[in-house]
Amino acid sequence: MSSFLIAPSILSADFARLGEEVETVLAAGADVVHFDVMDNHYVPNLSFGAPICKALRDYGITAPIDVHLMVTPVDSMIEQFVTAGASMISFHPEASDHVDRSLQLIIEGGCQAGLVLNPATPLSVLEHTIHKLDYILLMSVNPGFGGQKFIEHTLTKIAKVKALVDASGRDIRIEVDGGINCDNIAAIAAAGADMFVAGSAIFNQPNYAEVISTIRRNLASL
Ligand code: DX5
Ligand code: ZN
Repeated sequence: MSSFLIAPSILSADFARLGEEVETVLAAGADVVHFDVMDNHYVPNLSFGAPICKALRDYGITAPIDVHLMVTPVDSMIEQFVTAGASMISFHPEASDHVDRSLQLIIEGGCQAGLVLNPATPLSVLEHTIHKLDYILLMSVNPGFGGQKFIEHTLTKIAKVKALVDASGRDIRIEVDGGINCDNIAAIAAAGADMFVAGSAIFNQPNYAEVISTIRRNLASL
């Protein structure tokens, strides 16, 4: 895998042809499948659950599946996604009654563990959790929908998280999610991110390989 990871959000894919869509976007150069789980409770939208993740595995998808849980309660969903073949699982600390326990469930399930920070979530949530994290997912929109506009203030936050990660001495990825496109991705990387979710920017174009190669070119220009 390259040092920059591109994770298309399948929220913007054609659900009627999901297996094929995932195969196509991976063949087009994506590294990771970003899997947005919405429950119409923690966020005002409903997407898909663990059976769809398992269906992708059964279909033959072997690439890492990055499960972004926007649900409450969290723990039963973690268990279901561990069984369904997730590779990475993240959740929002506001959605869990016991953040440390939820992280532990992910780790014991053999998946990479991540915490998701909403635009207004303070970084203090990392103080007693960073030692357990494999990645930090910074939301650059309010969660719930694809196709929203990137919140510029996230750039400052990414830089602050990067400083915390460097100080921790741990190998922690910084993933950014929401409103990422070919034009703003280099600035997001320059701020310190190394994993990029893109939904509408990829799936709303006819040629996924073209978008992903433009993204890679723009990242290489740093
Ligand atoms: C928003 C989701 C995102 C979203 C990204 O709640 O977590 O992953 O699908 O979509 P775009 O790239 O269209 O903003
Ligand atoms: Zn997401």
